[in-house]
Amino acid sequence: MSVFNVELKKVVDDSYEIAIGYELSDQLLQDIGKGLVGNIRRFAVISDSNVSDLYAKPISQKLLDAGYGVDLFVFSAGEKSKTRETKARIEDAMLEKGYRRDCCVIAVGGGVVTDLAGFVAGTYGRGVPVIHYATSLLAAADASVGGKTAVDTPLATNLIGLFYQPKKVYIDIACWRTLPERQLRSGMAETIKHACLGSKDMFEFLEENMEDIYNNEKFACEYIAENNCKIKYGIVEKDERESGLREVLNLGHTVGRAIETVSDYKLLHGEALAIGMAAMVQMSAQFGYMSEEEAARVVALYHKAGLSTAIPEYIDREALVKKLYTDKKVRDGKLRFVLEKGIGDIVEFAPQVYAMPVEESVAREIIMAL
Ligand code: GLY
Repeated sequence: MSVFNVELKKVVDDSYEIAIGYELSDQLLQDIGKGLVGNIRRFAVISDSNVSDLYAKPISQKLLDAGYGVDLFVFSAGEKSKTRETKARIEDAMLEKGYRRDCCVIAVGGGVVTDLAGFVAGTYGRGVPVIHYATSLLAAADASVGGKTAVDTPLATNLIGLFYQPKKVYIDIACWRTLPERQLRSGMAETIKHACLGSKDMFEFLEENMEDIYNNEKFACEYIAENNCKIKYGIVEKDERESGLREVLNLGHTVGRAIETVSDYKLLHGEALAIGMAAMVQMSAQFGYMSEEEAARVVALYHKAGLSTAIPEYIDREALVKKLYTDKKVRDGKLRFVLEKGIGDIVEFAPQVYAMPVEESVAREIIMAL
């Protein structure tokens, strides 16, 4: 027998910038011109039917005018498109157009686009660079930062994917003006989640300034864009691969993701998360980690944001309880929940342990009453 040791230890620097501001497409062009993705001159711009005309086409045109090779790949907007099939269709179209490893993907859109395009980039030719140009509050608050890419499957959301960091993220707040209110509210659900887990000041800011955000006031939008990013990257920097701390970003998602799937995506991600957060604060209060008043304050903030925390009538609650077991945090067949401590903090159950096993009966009782 021969045994060879393949030495592949490496130090990787996947650091990247997040630019937050208004109308950042010229900045994107300048950065590419200055070598953001090296000598690459061919760009696959991936977008969806909602924002392609508004944002992806103008960006593609600017790239073309600057002499780059560009093709636009557009899929139907909505979570239902975030599938292996859509990914394969885009990959086949890119192969057909002659894209090889010397290209870069630019994702222009919301969370579905950045999740899907990031996954395409991470596996295309075993990995080509990706840039995220986030046009929605949900993408700004969560999806575009942190390198999680994924598609959904009939069983559940986000089970197939990889960690793949972008070269740069652009958060264009000007795009929020064209977001349908329902989408804006969906992004607000993740924003409130960040405040709940990481900043009492941010929570109080949201209590006081919700109207200003929905009215697109600059100071309020910039505040939430910046604070969402700070909270999120602060966690990702410490635990990129979710071996511990990053699980706190799953706050409210155990029930939230399950409802999203059981609703057959009639509920947007944030709408489902609002309900999941209501379940989570109830559980946190039940276990003594927050007071009933604090739990009610979280629920009230979701209502102030225009989000319902009640489980819709059409949801089969037993199916929902079963669906909880598709959660990524399940260990040895046991449900595990991340819980909130007071407002603006998270429970650390033991050093570096941020999720605790919870009996199904406890989760069921809360779900039946919501
Ligand atoms: N959306 C949760 C995370 O990025 O970890």
